Amino acid sequence: MAFLDIRRLRKSYGAAVALGGVDLSVEEGEFITLLGPSGSGKTTLLMSIAGFIKPDEGGIVLAGTDVTDLEPEDRNFGLVFQGYALFPHLSVRDNVAFPLKVRKWEKRAIAERVEAMLALVGLDQLAARKPRELSGGQQQRVALARALAYSPRLLLLDEPLSALDRSLRETMQRELKRLHRETGVTFIFVTHDQEEAYAMSDRIAVFQNGRIVQIGAPRDIYRNPASRFVAGFIGGNNLIRARFSPETGTLSLLGREIAAPQHFDVALHHRDGDVSAWIRSEDIAIGGAEAGFESFDVTVIDRAFIGTGERIAVRTGDDEELALVIPDGAADAVVVGAPLQCRVRPDLIGFLLPD
Ligand SMILES: Nc1ncnc2c1ncn2[C@@H]1O[C@H](COP(=O)(O)OP(=O)(O)OP(=O)(O)O)[C@@H](O)[C@H]1O
Ligand SMILES: [Mg+2]
Repeated sequence: MAFLDIRRLRKSYGAAVALGGVDLSVEEGEFITLLGPSGSGKTTLLMSIAGFIKPDEGGIVLAGTDVTDLEPEDRNFGLVFQGYALFPHLSVRDNVAFPLKVRKWEKRAIAERVEAMLALVGLDQLAARKPRELSGGQQQRVALARALAYSPRLLLLDEPLSALDRSLRETMQRELKRLHRETGVTFIFVTHDQEEAYAMSDRIAVFQNGRIVQIGAPRDIYRNPASRFVAGFIGGNNLIRARFSPETGTLSLLGREIAAPQHFDVALHHRDGDVSAWIRSEDIAIGGAEAGFESFDVTVIDRAFIGTGERIAVRTGDDEELALVIPDGAADAVVVGAPLQCRVRPDLIGFLLPD
């Protein structure tokens, strides 16, 4: 049995379905990320696990004990809200001590624990400050120290890094991973940032309309999206239309007719031949035909410098828009409005049933 077992969890608000039957099993010590668009049910699931939302149906079992009807304070889970929710009138030290006082720890044990937690998150020098005297990242660390202070078995984090700038965010991502390693606590983390999910997680659960539509290791999800929605949402993919002709064994896509590659599963087309395909931006190169590649003609519609390279937007002969990412300096001959030849390896094209 898994450490945390969520079974058929449902929650509706009137006609709006926030959770449409969620099953999720989490192993002890795992770092699981809930990833999905706004309104897909991530916070509702997190708050249901924490006990602040009562599900309409389904159950939550922690280490063999059904906790579905327990009050939040009896579950003893650490929780870091999106806005940190620090007590503004309390010092850093007293913020971290608060959950321990509520749990009636002894004064001395509280003092020791608070010092240890502040050292863990690198805030021992700032213990006397008030939250308003701290930067966003420092406030974030206070929230983490407070959530970890009473050694919860499970730490629930709702977009804890979304308010931070990129470099602080990357620092905090490493910090969180370190805390996860050093404490051995099970983390359930919410984000709608794909890269953050890849960087942090053992496994990612992708949400769509109140359901988990795919769960797996970051590389699994990136390489084998299970649906057109996932392929589109996880970023970096171009979704394109294709049509399969069983008589000739060919696919028409990108304004071309090509032999169906070996990994193409003929079961993946509807009776009318429609197939959904995707190509990652980094798998499209500029240039004409070459052994092992198929080339196709496009018109350039935009060039954008993105730091690590350039993102080129193009339109194909059959009116699909594609984005390709190429190293900086490799796009000197690319002119907006002009024709261009691109190429792709057919074995890197993914195929899915159309939604
Ligand atoms: N108290 C409520 N009353 C009515 N509808 C609600 C309530 N709370 C959430 N919802 C609805 O339930 C759905 C799921 O909301 P939830 O907050 O779980 O989404 P989310 O995935 O966390 O989104 P975000 O990324 O924007 O935080 C949304 O459609 C939302 O409008
Ligand atoms: Mg939310």
